[in-house]
Amino acid sequence: MKKNPFLLVAGITTLAVFLWLWLSPPRFWLNLVKRVDSSDPVAAGERLVEQYGCRQCHKILGQGALKAPALDGVTQRLDDQALYRWLSNPNAVARGTAMPNFRLSDAEIFAIIAYLQSIE
Ligand code: HEC
Repeated sequence: MKKNPFLLVAGITTLAVFLWLWLSPPRFWLNLVKRVDSSDPVAAGERLVEQYGCRQCHKILGQGALKAPALDGVTQRLDDQALYRWLSNPNAVARGTAMPNFRLSDAEIFAIIAYLQSIE
């Protein structure tokens, strides 16, 4: 069988794109694949808090661990922009922080913020 250099280049390119989206997904890609039911952001945010296990470290509504600041009332301490920065890239706020980067989409971040605002 004759080797087709085009196939090799196409294969390597596909692999590179795949690795990029997987290992360091850009924001537009997260926004595309991690969508949120926008009809009820508060309920969606509550589900996301369960799904991502925020309570493994934070106390929310009195439930959860205290390895990190309690999130009750956090929306009074931090404005939307600061919360967005914490949720989108914790390491950019506090280098080496134990707060994980969950690779949240914008819609997920806004839903979580809406939920945190709803519980004060
Ligand atoms: C593995 C433990 C861990 C998990 C899980 C976790 N966090 Fe955190 N988070 C932290 C730590 C530790 C800090 C404080 C970091 C610092 O100050 O360096 C923090 C800080 C924060 C802050 C800033 C709080 C403040 O008072 O300054 C917010 C908001 C926050 N986390 C939200 C969340 C949300 C929402 C989730 C779930 C999607 C989550 N965290 C999951 C460990 C965690």
